[in-house]
Amino acid sequence: MNVKTLVAGNWKMNKTLDESISFIEALSHIPVPQCEVLLAVPFIYLKPLQDIAPKWLTIAAQNISDKEQGAYTGEISAKMLQSISIKSTLIGHSERRQYYGETNAVIKEKLQQAFQNAVMPILCIGETLDERKNNLTEHVIENQLASVLTKADANKSLHIAYEPVWAIGTGETATKEQAEAMHHFIYNWLKENISETFAQQTKILYGGSCNTQNAEELFSMPHIHGGLVGGASLDVDSFKLLIEIGNTITNKNN
Ligand code: 13P
Repeated sequence: MNVKTLVAGNWKMNKTLDESISFIEALSHIPVPQCEVLLAVPFIYLKPLQDIAPKWLTIAAQNISDKEQGAYTGEISAKMLQSISIKSTLIGHSERRQYYGETNAVIKEKLQQAFQNAVMPILCIGETLDERKNNLTEHVIENQLASVLTKADANKSLHIAYEPVWAIGTGETATKEQAEAMHHFIYNWLKENISETFAQQTKILYGGSCNTQNAEELFSMPHIHGGLVGGASLDVDSFKLLIEIGNTITNKNN
C-alpha cells in the first residue's frame, strides 16, 4: 500500500547552477522528512545536485530519450542516467507532448527505456480544457494509459502524475473532488488492466497549480498520494512547507 506521501517538485527550465545549489543547501538543513521527496531538475544539474543532496532527497530527470543509444544528437538516455545513479525521471509531461510533439507511441518507448535501466518513471497524463469541456476526460486518460502500459508491465514500478493541462501554471487547480474522481478512475484502470497489486503499489500524484494553500486538502484525498509541483517548488520556503504538509499527511495515514 502507499503509506508515504510523495512531494515531487518539477523545476522545468528554471534556475542557474548557483541558484540550484543554494536551494539544495537550504533544503538540507531540515529534519529528515517522514514523507518522500523528489526534485526533477534540468539535465545539466543532475550530477552536481546529486553530489550534495541529502540521502532522503531523490534527484530526478525531467525527460529521457526513447532510444537506447546511438546517433541521436542532443538526447540523453535512461542508461546514462543510470550511470550517474539517477533513479527516477518524469516521462510524457504535457509540455513535452504539447511543445515537442511527444506522442503516446514515443512515451511508450521512453517508459520501456526507463524500465530496462532501473529508472523509476513518473508518467504524466492529463486532459486539456477542450477535452474536459467536451466530456472526454476519462476517454483521454484511458487512452493515455492504454497506449503505454500493458499487463506485461505488471512486474514493473512507476508513479503516475495526473496533471490536467488546464490547471498547469494557470493558478486554476482542480477541486479536490475533481482530482479525487480522476485519481480513483486511474486506480481502477490500473487494477482492471494491469493488476490489483500494481494499482496498490502505484503512487498517483496530482499536478496543476498545487501549492502550500491547497496541498493539504488534495493530499488528504484517498487516491491522491502526493503532488507534482511546478511553480511552488521553485521557492525553497514554499517547498519546505509542502514537505511539512507531506509529513502531516504521512503521519495521519500511519
Ligand atoms: P504548476 O505547479 O506550475 O502548475 O506546474 C505543474 C506541473 O506541470 C508539474 O509538472
